Amino acid sequence: MVTLTGISLPRLVAIMVVAGLVSLTILYCWSSTPKNCPAPLPNPKQQESYAAKKSNSLTGTAEDKPILLLWFWPENYFFDFSDCKTIFNIDGCHLTDNRSLYDTSDGVLIFHKAISWDLTNLPPSPRPRFQRWIWFHVESPTNTRKIPGLENLFNLTLSYRHDADILVRWRLRTRKKPEEDFVIPKKDKLVCWIVSNNAASTGVGTRNKFYEEFSKHIQVTMFGKAYANFLDFKEYYPTLSSCKFYLSLENSIHKDYFTEKINGPLAAGTVPVVLGPPRKNYENFVPGDAFIHVEDFTDPKSLAEYLLQLDKDDVAYRRYFDWRKHLTATPHLIQQTQEFILPICTACDYIARHREYKEAHDLYDWYFN
Ligand SMILES: *[C@@H]1O[C@H](CO)[C@@H](O)[C@H](O)[C@H]1NC(C)=O
Ligand SMILES: *[C@@H]1O[C@H](CO)[C@@H](O)[C@H](O)[C@H]1NC(C)=O
Repeated sequence: MVTLTGISLPRLVAIMVVAGLVSLTILYCWSSTPKNCPAPLPNPKQQESYAAKKSNSLTGTAEDKPILLLWFWPENYFFDFSDCKTIFNIDGCHLTDNRSLYDTSDGVLIFHKAISWDLTNLPPSPRPRFQRWIWFHVESPTNTRKIPGLENLFNLTLSYRHDADILVRWRLRTRKKPEEDFVIPKKDKLVCWIVSNNAASTGVGTRNKFYEEFSKHIQVTMFGKAYANFLDFKEYYPTLSSCKFYLSLENSIHKDYFTEKINGPLAAGTVPVVLGPPRKNYENFVPGDAFIHVEDFTDPKSLAEYLLQLDKDDVAYRRYFDWRKHLTATPHLIQQTQEFILPICTACDYIARHREYKEAHDLYDWYFN
C-alpha cells in the first residue's frame, strides 16, 4: 500500500508529482498484469451503482444494531458486508455504504487516502450529536499525506498502531490444548522474499541496503512484481511453506508497523526474518522465539552465516516452531481486493460494543510523533 507524495512539498509540486506518478502507474498497469496495480481512483458513480445493485448492508432488518456507514470504498475494493459474519463472525453492527443513512449512522468510517485536499468530499456538517467519525488509515507515517484540517475532526482512530482506538492486525491466538505434533512443511528453498513494491518514495531504502549486503552471502529466491517473477495469490501460502526462512522486511520503520509480512510466514510454517521496529516492539505481538530479527546481528553477513548454520542444524531450526504448541496463526486474506475487509469488520465490531464519548485531538501529533 503506497501513497504517492511527500508531505512537506508545496502543494503545487505535490500535485504535479502525483499526476506524473498516476499516469506512469496507469501506463504500467495498461501494459502489464493488473494483479498488483492499484485500483482506479475513487469514482463516485461506480460507488453509487455498486450500492444500488447490491444494496450492500450487513443485515437488512436489525434496526436496533448501531449503524456504521462506510463513507468511501477504500481503493474501490468492494466486498460483501456479509463477509464480516462469514469470515470473522462479526455481525454486531448494521454496516452500510448507503449515504442516505447518514443522519441515523452511529459511526462513519472515513478512509484517509480518499479524502480530498480541500475536504469537500467529507460528510456534511453539523454531524448528528451521537455520531462518531472514525479516521481509517493503515499506512505508516512515511506513506501518509498530511491533509490539512483533519487534526481535530475525528472521534476515533483505526490503525495498526497499538494505541489506536481500533487496532487492526492479524494476531496470534492462544490455544488451550497444546498441539504437540506440528510437522514442519517440506522445504526446498532456503530464503525467500516477495517484493511487490519497490518505489523509493515509500521508504524502502533501509531494506534495500540490507538486502544488497545480505544477498552477497546467501542465496535468496525472489518473487513479485518488482522481480518479474509474479506469484499468483493461490501460490502464496504454498510457496512460503516451501522456504526455510522468509524475509519480512517492512518498507519503512515505525513503532508497531509490522504487517502481514510477518503473519504470512508464521501462518505458513516458515521462520520470518524481520526488519522493522525493534525486537521488543515485535514481542508485543509475537513471541521472541518465533522470529529472527535483523538487529540481533552486527551485520547482514553474520545473519546470513547464522541462517546457513541453522540450515544444517535441524534441532536448532525446530526450536523456532515451539511457540506453535500454545499459539496459532491465522492465515490472512491475501487477495488485494480483500485488503480492507479486516479493518472494516473490526470497526463494525467496535461500534457494536462501544458507545463512549470521545474526541481525537491533534491527530497528526499523535500519528507522526
Ligand atoms: C438507501 O437508504 C434509503 C433510505 O433508507 C433508501 O430509500 C434507499 O433505497 C437505499 N438505497 C439503496 C441503494 O439501498
Ligand atoms: C466527536 O468529535 C467531535 C470533534 O472533536 C466533537 O465535536 C463531537 O462532540 C464528538 N462526538 C462524539 C459523539 O463523541
